[in-house]
Amino acid sequence: MADKTKIAVVFGTRPEAIKMSPLVLELKKYSEFDVKTIVTAQHRQMLDQVLDLFEIKPDYDLNLMRENQNLWELTSSILLGTKEVFEKAKPDIVLVHGDTTTAFAASLSAFYAKIKVGHVEAGLRTFDKYYPYPEEMNRVFADYITDYYFAPTDRAVQNLINEKCKKENIYKTGNTVIDALLWTVKNKEQNLDFLNLDKNLRTILITSHRRENFGKPLENICDSILELVKNNKDIQVVYPVHLNPNVRSTVNKKLKGQERIILTEPLDYAPFASLMKKSHLILTDSGGVQEEAPSLGIPVLVLRDETERPEAIEFGGVKLVGTNKEKIISTVQELLDNEETYTKMSAAVNPYGDGTACAQIANILLGK
Ligand code: UD1
Ligand code: UDP
Repeated sequence: MADKTKIAVVFGTRPEAIKMSPLVLELKKYSEFDVKTIVTAQHRQMLDQVLDLFEIKPDYDLNLMRENQNLWELTSSILLGTKEVFEKAKPDIVLVHGDTTTAFAASLSAFYAKIKVGHVEAGLRTFDKYYPYPEEMNRVFADYITDYYFAPTDRAVQNLINEKCKKENIYKTGNTVIDALLWTVKNKEQNLDFLNLDKNLRTILITSHRRENFGKPLENICDSILELVKNNKDIQVVYPVHLNPNVRSTVNKKLKGQERIILTEPLDYAPFASLMKKSHLILTDSGGVQEEAPSLGIPVLVLRDETERPEAIEFGGVKLVGTNKEKIISTVQELLDNEETYTKMSAAVNPYGDGTACAQIANILLGK
């Protein structure tokens, strides 16, 4: 029998875990693969929440998260940590995901060790190196090193072709986040009583964590929430607050203790998916949430000036509103008041996949 292909799947943050866990489970179904899961734990609690849900026990856990960590230390510790693990595990191929510092540093580390790299969610671009920061350059660097590109959409494929990446190694697979979401919604529907939501009110869900939004932009977002809640007695806002201390200080200062604003710890993925489904509207700067919500028929307003995910905007389920207070308020108000605008957005088709991305990636890897 031919030797198994040794695949190391590396991830470290919540969104990577959500998007890579179904792939780990899929790859493990094949006797042709020997799959090892390596977590950098760039996130700790928010990573562990996801590992528990998918019942994944990492083979290697670098446990690298530090309080308010900076990019220099994080990048070097991932490089050194993965070097040691790659030397032990000797993978034939390393799979990384997206645009985090884990994805960039692990792909660089694999390159130094002359190991092939597969990049899941390859090809996303804003073409502005500081927006989002540092994610735009993380994914550009990762794609430069990558051997196999698993691009979610036609646009991502085209971005890679434009950058002269080898066409024969670019595969359009859809985004694995849809695999994760559909599985979770089908198998892990959650009771949300613990949030004490008022059933007579419309729920607006909000998440925000991007580095470009720290400070004034996040303050604007909070101020617009305060005003919207004051002007609309029939809405409540739920905000699961990201564990980054830069986010928490602003959000707690502005929104803690306010009427009809529920601040929670980051929710586990299953209750979060159930909450998305129950929401009337979502405001977010998250990449993953932008991709997921159209599958649930929930309109999304993106709290950023640019996005590397323009497809859902073109399909109509997502609008870019930025972080200007007046713009956020007027766009939300329009969606609260105008049924036609709302229905149009909620009926939009999701361009990010059909829940088969992991099976497609596994099939492609079988041929390598
Ligand atoms: C990181 C990614 C970002 C991604 C986001 C998803 C980088 C540089 N940033 O941003 O691309 O969109 O994750 O959420 O790769 N913390 C905890 N517990 C946790 C997670 C975070 O306490 O489980 C706190 C720690 O103090 C940590 C800080 O948040 O130092 C920042 O974490 P970090 O991964 O550096 O940045 P994020 O803002 O989470
Ligand atoms: N998410 C979650 N709990 C929360 C907020 C978000 O499980 O309290 C999920 C969300 O459904 C999506 C992912 O986390 O799948 C997005 O992660 P995040 O916004 O941290 O990162 P990004 O996608 O912007 O990189």
